[in-house]
Amino acid sequence: MRTVVANLKGGTGKSTVAFNLGLWLLEGRRRVLAVDLDPQCTLSDALEVRQEEGFEPALDVTSDLESAQAHEGDYDEILIDVGASDMAALMAAVEGADRVLIPVPPSQADVWATYRFVTRILEQRGNRNRPEILAFINRADTHTAVRESDETCSALEQIEGVRLLQPRLKQRMAFRRSFSEGLSVHELEPRGKAAAELDALAVAVFGGRRQ
Ligand SMILES: Nc1ncnc2c1ncn2[C@@H]1O[C@H](COP(=O)(O)OP(=O)(O)OP(=O)(O)O)[C@@H](O)[C@H]1O
Ligand SMILES: [Mg+2]
Repeated sequence: MRTVVANLKGGTGKSTVAFNLGLWLLEGRRRVLAVDLDPQCTLSDALEVRQEEGFEPALDVTSDLESAQAHEGDYDEILIDVGASDMAALMAAVEGADRVLIPVPPSQADVWATYRFVTRILEQRGNRNRPEILAFINRADTHTAVRESDETCSALEQIEGVRLLQPRLKQRMAFRRSFSEGLSVHELEPRGKAAAELDALAVAVFGGRRQ
C-alpha cells in the first residue's frame, strides 16, 4: 500500500508522523520504505540521525519516487513525505497513492487548507475511488477545556470525501524529541501517552497491532 502524508500547509507534522508511522510499521515487522520528496529533506535528516546514532532497526529511505515505484514489490508499505511548497510534486505523489493521510492542527485556517486540498484531490481523482482521503488531528491541545480540537473535528466531518480518523495526536514534547533524537515515540517512552496515541493512529491507518 502506498500512503502519502501530505497537507497544503507547512509545519502540520507530516514528517514527524511519517517518521513515527514508518518506525511503528518496522517494529511490527512490516517491510516499509520511506520516500522523502520534500526538498527540505527533514525525514531523511531524522533518519540520518538515527543511523549515525546506530539505532536499530534502520528504516530504508529514498528521495526518488520512480525508484520507490520500481522496488514497490519488495515492501509491504510505502510511506511518502511530501513538501507543501511544490504543488506539482505533491499532486504527482497523490496520483499514484492508495491513500492520502492529512495531519490537521486544530485551527480554522487548517480546516480551510484541508478543504482546498481535498477539493484538489477529488478533482484529480475523477470517478476513481483511490486515493482514499484520511484526516486526523495533530497537535491537539492537552487541556480538555480547549474546544478547538472538537470544533476542528466537527468541521472536518463536514468535508465530503474525507474519512476522519478518531485517534488524535496531542501536542507533546515526546513528538518533538523523537524527531530530533532519531527515535520513535515508542523507543523514547514505551509507556508514554505519545506512544499510546501513535499506536491508536497507526492501527486506524494500517490495521493490526504491533507485534
Ligand atoms: N504532536 C506533536 N506534538 C508536538 N510537536 C509536534 C507534533 N507534531 C509535530 N510537532 C513539531 O512541529 C514541528 C513541525 O513538524 P514537522 O516538521 O513534522 O511538520 P511538517 O508538516 O513536516 O513541516 P514542513 O511543511 O515544513 O515539512 C516540528 O518541530 C515537530 O517537532
Ligand atoms: Mg516536513
